[in-house]
Amino acid sequence: MQYTVVFQPAGCRGLVSAGENLLQASRNLGVAIEAPCGGGEICGKCKVIIDSAMSNLSPLSEKERKVLTPAELAGNYRLACCARIYGDVVVFVPEQSRGANQIVLETGRHVALELKPAINLYYVELNKPTLEDFRDDFARLKDALLSRFIQIDKNITIDYRVLLRLPDVLRQSGWKVTVAVWNDTEIIAVAPGSESKAYGIAVDVGTTTIAAYLCDLVTGDVLTQDSMMNNQVRYGDDVISRISYCMMNDDGLSLLQQSVIDDINTLVKRMTGSAGIQPDHVFEIILVFNTVMHHIALKINPQYIGSVPFTSAIRESVTVKAREIGITIAPGGYIHCLPIEAGFVGADNVAVLIAEEPYKQDKMTLIIDIGTNGEINFGNRAGILSASCATGPAFEGAQIKFGMRAAVGAIERVKVDPVTKEPEIKVIGQNTSDHEEIILAKGICGSGIIDAVAELFKAGIIQADGGFNKSIKSPRIRQGPDGKFEYVLVWAAQTTIGQDITITQKDVRAVQLAKAALYAGAKILMQKQGINKVDSVILAGAFGSYIDKENALVLGMFPDCNLEHVVAVGNAAGSGAKLALLNKDKRIEAQVVAQSVQFVETAAETNFQTEFFNAMYLPHAKDSFTHIQHILDKIPQC
Ligand code: FES
Repeated sequence: MQYTVVFQPAGCRGLVSAGENLLQASRNLGVAIEAPCGGGEICGKCKVIIDSAMSNLSPLSEKERKVLTPAELAGNYRLACCARIYGDVVVFVPEQSRGANQIVLETGRHVALELKPAINLYYVELNKPTLEDFRDDFARLKDALLSRFIQIDKNITIDYRVLLRLPDVLRQSGWKVTVAVWNDTEIIAVAPGSESKAYGIAVDVGTTTIAAYLCDLVTGDVLTQDSMMNNQVRYGDDVISRISYCMMNDDGLSLLQQSVIDDINTLVKRMTGSAGIQPDHVFEIILVFNTVMHHIALKINPQYIGSVPFTSAIRESVTVKAREIGITIAPGGYIHCLPIEAGFVGADNVAVLIAEEPYKQDKMTLIIDIGTNGEINFGNRAGILSASCATGPAFEGAQIKFGMRAAVGAIERVKVDPVTKEPEIKVIGQNTSDHEEIILAKGICGSGIIDAVAELFKAGIIQADGGFNKSIKSPRIRQGPDGKFEYVLVWAAQTTIGQDITITQKDVRAVQLAKAALYAGAKILMQKQGINKVDSVILAGAFGSYIDKENALVLGMFPDCNLEHVVAVGNAAGSGAKLALLNKDKRIEAQVVAQSVQFVETAAETNFQTEFFNAMYLPHAKDSFTHIQHILDKIPQC
């Protein structure tokens, strides 16, 4: 039995099977609904309004009764992942539930390197076959290569697809060809005449976004870069939701794999189009990602990464023909995935390390990569320790009442006047030149929530233990529907959602938990190294580039450090992928790094709970923060 579902205001309609839920239906019809928990009935963000008979849907679930307010229940609100379809329905997706495209930071630190790609082009002129010299075409080509280029492996092979075209290409070119050779061991393309076009792409597949860089393998130039949302977001915001989706649906892994391959192919097409080159001149792609994204892209069951002892199918680098996993580049082209470090610490962390090279320095460096999952590395040339921190999605705007991704309409900067207690906000999109109208706030993203909590602390509105200072009198400080205190950041009239955007006590707690996880992880790594101070902090990842580093230190996201030695390097994982694309020695370095970095399971350390508890305070219960003491001294004692 099938029913018609219409999603408004997009106006998308289609037939769905009886029993399918509204979230599944929206995905099938290409309507984006926020679903941070991936339809797991946990986050409560997938609220929709039913504009037709409620009787055509399954009855209200317990979860919905708990999450939806009385006013929402009276207004025909449902959770899209709970409501199953048993008749024709018209659904309105309210502003706050609409999926938004994230703004992606694509620039990493500029890193100089020697050009040494895995793909090289060789021009050769062959003698035509005769009755006296009747060597086969491949032997003739191989001999010509070996006689002119000593670096070529004497056991060089040829890709099957290239072999299929070889006889024609040789004859049509008058026996003058350019050969693309991979690692000097395999012919992966043969083109007529003299050719100097060889390209590669470095791709950082994040849980939420994908960033790609098209590079010229002959000059080493980055020709263009592009990025897009990882469309797997439709199936859940974090890696656990993606694993669950694969486990709970027979075709789950196939769907998720196809989704990410489609995204990569889209980026290949867009970038080669904008650079004016043919996709079959792209000979190699380097992929970096966390372990779950790695397994899904390679269509390996990710289930066992998600449970103790968090084992991956493989840690070493993986090299396969791009066509094997459906990526459309040169028919003989390769993809190379950098190695995985351990469990949840994936090839993206290895890429960050080969870009920043803390293992070649004397100073003790703390690298924090705050993505959907938090990864930290600490050490120097004497040794690097790494850990994965369960920061939760608070820094990405999830678990926050009005949290959203860093997209147009998100509050990204907050200042609070310590005297008047009035806020000043900056909304993404507000100063974009092609927007003449004022962009109203829709929610708050990760950098905004860091600012908001730090500024409320600096203004004396919340205290070191995270609790609201109840003695302050301000119309912005009030008790919320749950009886707990909250701060009104934006009044309803200045929003697109028609509700006051507040920072609730629960939001503050979520930020405290996330930052405490990072800080406690860093402290454990410092203790293991026998070090009590960090010389420098590197904030990697898009989020790290957007946050106000002073406010991050005021919150105690990382141990005290001279702010001049705290640097944001942007997408360091993308930079590492580019390095590995342009210099194959970096792949060997990645292999060595992945093996030599010592992974610490911080949560299993006996003092983790104590460190975590102390780190719940702003900025910390015990540790001193000399570099921001002047700011802490100014906090009004109301
Ligand atoms: S509660 Fe429906 S997607 Fe999270």
